[in-house]
Amino acid sequence: MTQAQISLTRFLIEEQRAGRITPELRLLVEVVARACKRISIAVGKGALGGVLGDAGEAGQASINVQGEAQKKLDVLSNEILLEANAWGGHLAGLASEEMDHSQPIPDVYPRGNYLLLFDPLDGSSNIDVNVSVGTIFSVLRCPEGVTTPGDEHFLQPGTAQVAAGYCVYGPQTTLVLTVGHGTHAFTLDREVGSFVLTVRGMRIPEETKEFAVNMSNQRFWEPPMQAYVGDLLRGKDGPRGKDFNMRWVASMVADVHRILTRGGIFSYPLDSKCAPKGGKLRLMYEANPMAFLVEQAGGAASTGRTRMLEVQPTGLHMRVPVFLGSKAEVEAAVAYHLRHD
Ligand code: AHG
Ligand code: MN
Ligand code: MN
Ligand code: MN
Repeated sequence: MTQAQISLTRFLIEEQRAGRITPELRLLVEVVARACKRISIAVGKGALGGVLGDAGEAGQASINVQGEAQKKLDVLSNEILLEANAWGGHLAGLASEEMDHSQPIPDVYPRGNYLLLFDPLDGSSNIDVNVSVGTIFSVLRCPEGVTTPGDEHFLQPGTAQVAAGYCVYGPQTTLVLTVGHGTHAFTLDREVGSFVLTVRGMRIPEETKEFAVNMSNQRFWEPPMQAYVGDLLRGKDGPRGKDFNMRWVASMVADVHRILTRGGIFSYPLDSKCAPKGGKLRLMYEANPMAFLVEQAGGAASTGRTRMLEVQPTGLHMRVPVFLGSKAEVEAAVAYHLRHD
């Protein structure tokens, strides 16, 4: 008899039975997973579903709080997540890359004890060219005694996360999740419509020979980043003593999934273009959930100077420089920054 497949539902019930998650958190993760299935179906339809291209009326782009032109799938994915989480009773409020401010759960529904933050569709620039995209989410506790949470109640450091995950819509639709006890991968069985546990306890190799960075920004980087990548590019003839390979998908979810699967270092450092805003990637619903997943898989995540999960948020859409992946490589990159300061 083949080994029984463990569904996401069974995995979560066993985590709850072991006392590692509450029934409410189990419910919340199931709701998010169900929403990701719906997003996967919409993404998979592409041109046939009329979901490609920019949102907004003809010629009038719809610009989000980030200053980005929203894609139709940015808006649709956001709506799917809002609707799925409104009535379940497990959330007090939610925040999204695509919404200026957080939203308490509507009064008509019961509220729960958690806060959900998400990047409903990560890698939007890849949607129209059929390259993997994804959804990223992070779960915090709603502070004691707060029944109508505002933005300020979401501003908790990454160490306060009780769960985090992403769903990558690629050749497979795979949900990767941590509830603080390892990082685990679930692949969508499209025939049955359920996520099946395919990797229990993902582990990132300590060392790597693969880096992920958008090299077109090289001339805009800070000196320590120039030095770090310069040495890395000199390969085995340089101080690193080994040749590196490069990958850059421009969907953080796809790059992080590759790193969780086979190692590597991902970086979106400060450059003179994004430095005034603090960086390109957002702390609350990109860097922090990914940092939690990576640390739970034995990797490391840093701003280049500070452990990512210890950054104190100052705003819902705060941006940070990001270095994450194979522990020894992240430490090497951080060393260049600390030496320079
Ligand atoms: P989003 O599509 O949610 O706005 O995020 C895009 C991010 C991230 O997914 C990716 O790593 C990065 O932007 C790519 O930036 P460049 O296009 O500058 O390479
Ligand atoms: Mn965006
Ligand atoms: Mn994103
Ligand atoms: Mn996005």
